[in-house]
Amino acid sequence: MLLTPAHQFPTGAVLSPERRTELLRWADAREALIIEDDYDAEYRYDRAPVGALQGLRPDLVAHVGSVSKTLAPALRLGWLIAPAAWRARLFDARGSLDHGLPALEQLALADFITRGAYDRHLRRSGARTGAAATRCSRHSRRGCPARRSAAPPPACTSPSTYRAPTKPRWSRRAGAPG
Ligand SMILES: Cc1ncc(COP(=O)(O)O)c(C=O)c1O
Repeated sequence: MLLTPAHQFPTGAVLSPERRTELLRWADAREALIIEDDYDAEYRYDRAPVGALQGLRPDLVAHVGSVSKTLAPALRLGWLIAPAAWRARLFDARGSLDHGLPALEQLALADFITRGAYDRHLRRSGARTGAAATRCSRHSRRGCPARRSAAPPPACTSPSTYRAPTKPRWSRRAGAPG
């Protein structure tokens, strides 16, 4: 089963602790693999970071991440941390897709991570983009008074934090159409 427990798109919902437990029980009973697509875990501004499901049951959950939001989508690089029992099958499945990704970019990313530079980059860029998201959120609330939350949405904008005004502001002016 493939899912995005930390941030469902497009609703923005987070899988509750009860549903997480239920899901793990379901997978355990069926010897199924859960693929946790943790695609925007690094930049969350609307809540405390959400723990990975994979940490609860590394034997049942494969964790998938990507540098598309943190470095550049054009790199086409990510990672998959898989339970040992599934690794061979996943290698085969990945190998059947294409001839793999450029080695140089992968080696550069591995070096970037190993040197701690990726962590430093996340801390610096997270603070910068968090401040920008807060400014943006403040401005957007002026133009969108029905917006429910003052907290900025995560990196991948979640429509769930917005509620469309019943009528646009301009239409409430006397004589305006609509
Ligand atoms: C649900 C989901 N998974 C994964 C990704 C990352 O995709 P990619 O690494 O191919 O850019 C995204 C990008 O926004 C996404 O929305």
